[in-house]
Amino acid sequence: MTLELGLNQQPAHTRQGSSIGQPLTRRDGFLKVTGAARFAADNNPPGMLYAVLAVSSIARGRVVSLDVEAAKAHAGVVEVMTPLNRPALAVDPDAKDHPFMFRLDLLQNDGVRYPNQSIAVVIAQTLEAATEGAALLSPRYEELPARVGLDGAKSFVPRGVGVGNPAVQEKGDVEAGLKSARTRIEATYETPAQYHNAMEPHAIVAAWDGDRLSIDTPSQGLAMAQGRIAGLFGIAPQNVHIRSPFLGGGFGSKGMISGPQVLGILAARLVGRPVKLVLRREQMYGPVGHRAPTRQTLRMGMDGEGLLTAISHHARTTSSTFDDFFEPAADASHTLYASPAIATSHDAVRLDTGTPLFMRAPGEATGSIALESAIDEAAHACGMDPLEFRLRNYAEVEPMTGKPFSSKALRECYEQAAEAFGWASRPLQPRRMRDADGFLTGWGMGTATFPALMFQAEARAVLRADGTGLMETGAQDMGQGAWTAFAQIAADGLGLDIDQVDFRAGSSDLPNAGIAGGSGHTATAGMAIHNAGAAVIANLADLATGDEASPLFGAGNEGVVARGGRLYRRDDESRGESYAEILVRAGLTEIEGRGKGAPDPASQETYAKHAHGAVFAEVKVDPDLGQIRVTRLVGAFAAGRVINPRLVRSQYYGGMIWGVSFALHEEAVTDRRSGRIQNANLADYHVPVNADVPSVEALLVHEDDPYVNALGIKGVGEIGITGTAGAIANAVWHATGVRPRRFPIRIEDLLG
Ligand code: MOS
Repeated sequence: MTLELGLNQQPAHTRQGSSIGQPLTRRDGFLKVTGAARFAADNNPPGMLYAVLAVSSIARGRVVSLDVEAAKAHAGVVEVMTPLNRPALAVDPDAKDHPFMFRLDLLQNDGVRYPNQSIAVVIAQTLEAATEGAALLSPRYEELPARVGLDGAKSFVPRGVGVGNPAVQEKGDVEAGLKSARTRIEATYETPAQYHNAMEPHAIVAAWDGDRLSIDTPSQGLAMAQGRIAGLFGIAPQNVHIRSPFLGGGFGSKGMISGPQVLGILAARLVGRPVKLVLRREQMYGPVGHRAPTRQTLRMGMDGEGLLTAISHHARTTSSTFDDFFEPAADASHTLYASPAIATSHDAVRLDTGTPLFMRAPGEATGSIALESAIDEAAHACGMDPLEFRLRNYAEVEPMTGKPFSSKALRECYEQAAEAFGWASRPLQPRRMRDADGFLTGWGMGTATFPALMFQAEARAVLRADGTGLMETGAQDMGQGAWTAFAQIAADGLGLDIDQVDFRAGSSDLPNAGIAGGSGHTATAGMAIHNAGAAVIANLADLATGDEASPLFGAGNEGVVARGGRLYRRDDESRGESYAEILVRAGLTEIEGRGKGAPDPASQETYAKHAHGAVFAEVKVDPDLGQIRVTRLVGAFAAGRVINPRLVRSQYYGGMIWGVSFALHEEAVTDRRSGRIQNANLADYHVPVNADVPSVEALLVHEDDPYVNALGIKGVGEIGITGTAGAIANAVWHATGVRPRRFPIRIEDLLG
């Protein structure tokens, strides 16, 4: 398989001691910069045809006609798939028996429920012919008015938000707390719809062989995708083989298999040949998820000492008309600040959009923008420095539940980042700093937090008689560096140098590694790898300690340690032998062990588990034009054990740059008349480019966590985006005296 060949072509790493904690460069970096990494759409099996989606230009209604004849008459077009000839599925794609089983648009009827919904698939000899054929379909519609905007429909309280947490939660008496307060603030903030916009569009190359299906497609969760596809087609999961060695970004939008990916499989079924289907950029604005917009109202009360007496956080959000995903924005207020009373609530409206989905730090990213802005407003109302105010209200236990934290080095994050940033010299009042060019300069801060989640994963470890090792798990590298971090954990677990370990991932025929999501992949699959390593070492130790010919005879499993490809007696390290010697003497070519990763139910009940961080931002604002530049970001994060500081820092940089994007750039703009997204392309949908990205610094704060898992890993994928946008908004206020309450912050919000 290309994958393993590729990864074994790496230049050797030199290394001292344990692999864990080493700042190794990405094992797949060489392949990616040389173009040798093969992404899903790079596959071209023999006889392959090209499929192109035709998508709806209306938001709501039905397709009255399609000129299938015109498309089919076009040179190179082989077939047109519509609701009339789409192959049958074993289950209704609108059936739902699990919250993660999102409803898919698979040409089940002529209905249109959002713009860019698939209405046909054109299959042709070439991409060009398929594209031209799709253009010839000239759909006619019966159109109904689109429901758009946060006031666009009657609101209701959703049954669950995000992955099912209660929409309304309360601790203590918030109204009494507000009433008794010396100082109160109330403010409403709006955040926009955003689209994941991974560099790699959703793509699939699908090939059927009887009832066996082989696909190349990017996936953040191979086993879940395999199960969903198997269910839809009524075949056994093991008959679905998914290869997903590399993802060009996922951010949540590749967590579940999407409708267009399944349409590629249906197209291959229809024509009986391999088919490639790749979404165009604008086609990603609908069927593959987005971050829902929010409108959030925060109310806070403070006593004469600046202590919070109450926090009330209400969020309105949206879902589609046909499925449920509700951005759990208000839940951000459960974690960070001590308060005798906390109330969080959500309501929602249903719009004619694709179903929203997890998008990097779902809930925390949107919620922390509002919370961190409100905390800044509260500090100002009390006449306090925002850092002092946060320290005054520091949560020693999880505010909502009263549980102790498994570990929490947030104080150290505040201290280290404030020191590196130079926060101590910040004037309390806004509009007090100008630079040499006359730009208004402002400093703001935000707190970052994200839960330390774990899911379920399995791994298989092998030691071979040639002294090398193998570690297998169906994990996903979506750019975050999983290949490298997991290989480091594998090397440690096997007691081998990393270059002696063949690490395999990215394929559904390997043990189920769960989902690369919720910032939990390193902890979960990492623990499976760690435990598989321990299992194979234990099996090897059994062999040696039970063999009279071994210097380890009689030491017992506990009496043996593994290091550098050898087992040693714990009580006498001059006595030991190599893995290879043990296996060869036993007449074995290899020995195997298996391991699992999962949250520990006991500590789950006892402890609140979160990563924390603090982000400080400097902005400069043109006093005449209102143009905003972020000039400096300093973050400090404590997220348990760091497997690879280079990669972890890279995750923080990426998250903080998303925060810049959230504060100043990103927004999907909906046309209120048509319901269409007006900027469904990377020219008009703004994300930061290098010129927008300031000096970014990420400090890694030491944190030992004995409870999250045996490796002490919390997860770093999402926390960087939380806190950052709030810090920037607070810096804009500090520069200008104008409080941004609508995101992204616009020039016009600062003028007049
Ligand atoms: Mo993430 S939004 O859990 O991929």
